[in-house]
Amino acid sequence: MASSRQPLAASTARKQAMLAARAPLVRPLHEAEWSIAFPLLQSLWPHLERASFLGRLREQARRGYLLAGAITPVPTGNRLCGVIGMREVHTLARGGLLQIDDLVVAEDLRRRGVGRALIRYAELEARAAGLQSLLLEAPPTAVPFCRKLGWELTSSPTMLFHLAGAGRAGSECITK
Ligand SMILES: CC(C)(COP(=O)(O)OP(=O)(O)OC[C@H]1O[C@@H](n2cnc3c(N)ncnc32)[C@H](O)[C@@H]1OP(=O)(O)O)[C@@H](O)C(=O)NCCC(=O)NCCS
Repeated sequence: MASSRQPLAASTARKQAMLAARAPLVRPLHEAEWSIAFPLLQSLWPHLERASFLGRLREQARRGYLLAGAITPVPTGNRLCGVIGMREVHTLARGGLLQIDDLVVAEDLRRRGVGRALIRYAELEARAAGLQSLLLEAPPTAVPFCRKLGWELTSSPTMLFHLAGAGRAGSECITK
């Protein structure tokens, strides 16, 4: 009698494809979940250190920073496949805006709509807060992604000034 059962590898591959096709759930990450986000955030910011990571997040959260995660089902449970960190900023030039400080999707799950889902979540947050726009500092490699989602490149370069002695490795303290 011919069996209607699929070979195990084929059915697992099909299950994985079906699960991957589902839109991820995006929601704020609880403080107890922040450490799960560390590998993703460290892939974005390699200088991040685990020892100071939670303390820094706590300090940022105290000042209004929100870390949200995209959670997707995998055969073994749920997986955090991307994160977005954002905060509200108000300026005379731009009014109220949502600044996206961190956005990263796990390398093996890119190009499946996770980044889009994270940005959509930020848009909803911004609308709910009555803000006018969203802003993010994108590396050149992420510009096509941003453009695809309807974002425009600003003409102003971002300028940065490091304060001497302000805790940055390699900076020197001027004492006179
Ligand atoms: C940028 C990043 C967040 C995009 O996430 P992603 O999950 O791969 O993006 P999505 O799959 O949701 O892509 C949304 C759309 O942008 C397109 N897109 C994504 N990356 C692209 C790229 N490098 N070049 C061209 N188009 C791209 C997708 O094809 C998709 O278009 P479609 O809906 O018409 O198919 C991800 O590549 C990443 O984590 N990069 C490293 C970290 C980084 O650069 N962060 C900076 C944030 S701006």
